Amino acid sequence: MGKKLIGIATVLVVAAAGFGASWLMFGQGKPPESSTPTASQPAPQGFNKTQHDINEPGGLWWIVNKQRPLPKGYEPADLTTPKIKLRWAPIAESMQVSASITPSLEAMYQAMVAAGFDVMLISGYRSEKTQAELYNGYVSKSGQAEADRLSARPGTSEHQTGLVVDLGRADGKCELDQCLGDLPEGKWLAEHAHEYGFIIRYPQGKEATVGYMYEPWHLRYVGKELAAELHAKQQTMEEFFGL
Ligand code: DAL
Ligand code: ZN
Repeated sequence: MGKKLIGIATVLVVAAAGFGASWLMFGQGKPPESSTPTASQPAPQGFNKTQHDINEPGGLWWIVNKQRPLPKGYEPADLTTPKIKLRWAPIAESMQVSASITPSLEAMYQAMVAAGFDVMLISGYRSEKTQAELYNGYVSKSGQAEADRLSARPGTSEHQTGLVVDLGRADGKCELDQCLGDLPEGKWLAEHAHEYGFIIRYPQGKEATVGYMYEPWHLRYVGKELAAELHAKQQTMEEFFGL
């Protein structure tokens, strides 16, 4: 008698479990989402180019170039020193960046460390005054035409936004030199920076659109979504936004 009761109870429990499993598998109406669009399931809408304002100072997609200067005397309100290896003392102006980019910068830095690289921040924020000194130095050394291919005139440098970093190897090899692009660190940046929301702002062969020679070390933060799009299309911000 006891055994029979236990037997019935077991059958009921097994049946209930079976019913539950069937409900879990089939009873929820919608099938799981497929990652590949089909005829009945159209692809998601195209990239929305108006999510952020390219004219907004400090904005994620703010475009600063020779034709699009910063507001006079612009300074980011949230300058901070990122927790990555630094070329200069942490209090130095050039070791500051906008706090809006530090989590992504630190994540990218940690990924590079994990990949076996020893890299550091060469230059982040630059005030208009510092940029003037730098630019004038290039003009004295190489003449204005050449300086304009390498260095932004004061008031037009992306460095003044705080959304940019120049990165380099800790041993100084190819520092601010195009040969960085041929080193593993430069190749890694070109291949992976977009995964952290950064782009190589002045890529090889794009001087006519961006106004500057190839700078494999100069990374601009634009957020993962736009960075992935620009990387996939191999386009600059100017090309993508039709400037
Ligand atoms: N080297 C880049 C173009 C700058 O001076 O901002
Ligand atoms: Zn730079």
